[in-house]
Amino acid sequence: MNSAGDGASGPGAGRLASLATAGTIRRQRRVWSGRVKSWDQHGSANLTKVTAALLAAARPRDGEQVVDLGCGNGQLSLPLAERGARVLAVDVSQGMVDAVLAEAARRGLAGVEAVALPIETMNLPDGSVDLIVSSYALHHLRDRDKARLMQAALRWLRPGGRLVLADMMFGRGTSARDRQIIARKVAVLARKGPGGLWRIAKNAVRYQLRVQERPVSMQAWISMMTRAGFADIVGSTIVAEAGLVIACRPGAAPPPQRAAGRRPRAARPG
Ligand SMILES: C[S@@+](CC[C@H](N)C(=O)[O-])C[C@H]1O[C@@H](n2cnc3c(N)ncnc32)[C@H](O)[C@@H]1O
Repeated sequence: MNSAGDGASGPGAGRLASLATAGTIRRQRRVWSGRVKSWDQHGSANLTKVTAALLAAARPRDGEQVVDLGCGNGQLSLPLAERGARVLAVDVSQGMVDAVLAEAARRGLAGVEAVALPIETMNLPDGSVDLIVSSYALHHLRDRDKARLMQAALRWLRPGGRLVLADMMFGRGTSARDRQIIARKVAVLARKGPGGLWRIAKNAVRYQLRVQERPVSMQAWISMMTRAGFADIVGSTIVAEAGLVIACRPGAAPPPQRAAGRRPRAARPG
């Protein structure tokens, strides 16, 4: 896996990468803060399937500590809390975080905390989490930050803890699966007329130049998780371009968590 601007090395490369990450974060915050009211995946049958598949794979146990990365307005966080998990919902947009907290209060869910932080710079105590979930958020991260996140996620999980990731998963056309997915997306949009053609053009630029949308293939996610030290990694296709990858931190299964136990606090590093 590699992408423009992500693979630089040499003096100053680290600083350039940090600046690029900061720019990505600013852009995502701006874009998603403008979508708080309109983001409702129930309009999309495929996204509804993605959420259902992720929740089925996550199988949260009562009292488990879950972290939802890029939580949006709580499509995962809220049902997980309804199933007895204690959820820390994280999103770069304060508006999304406010929406999760408001809906949790409306439903009387005490087990939801939410914090506005970029995934790229958040930190959690080692071994403090039973389950990390994320749906359709991590493709916004730069590739370097995806790999770093996998390393951090392994540390945050208790031994035996699980990572369940759903996202658009395809590369830039080097594999037959990539080409199949891209061709199908283009065909679906082309049938929508001028609006669809405009979206094809916009997405082609975004995907190729890695602006805002930076999906990678399922194999790339599996490789990053393997390199980070995850075990029992299993990938599957949910629908269309949506993939699901499940992985475990090696070690004994975590003991049942006590609901009154200490909760991890998300913090900026340093
Ligand atoms: C497509 S929405 C998905 C939301 C939710 N996971 C769902 O399934 O409905 C992507 C979310 O990721 C968040 N996001 C994007 N980049 C982020 C970043 N760097 N750190 C934290 N959240 C981010 C956006 O604010 C947005 O709420």
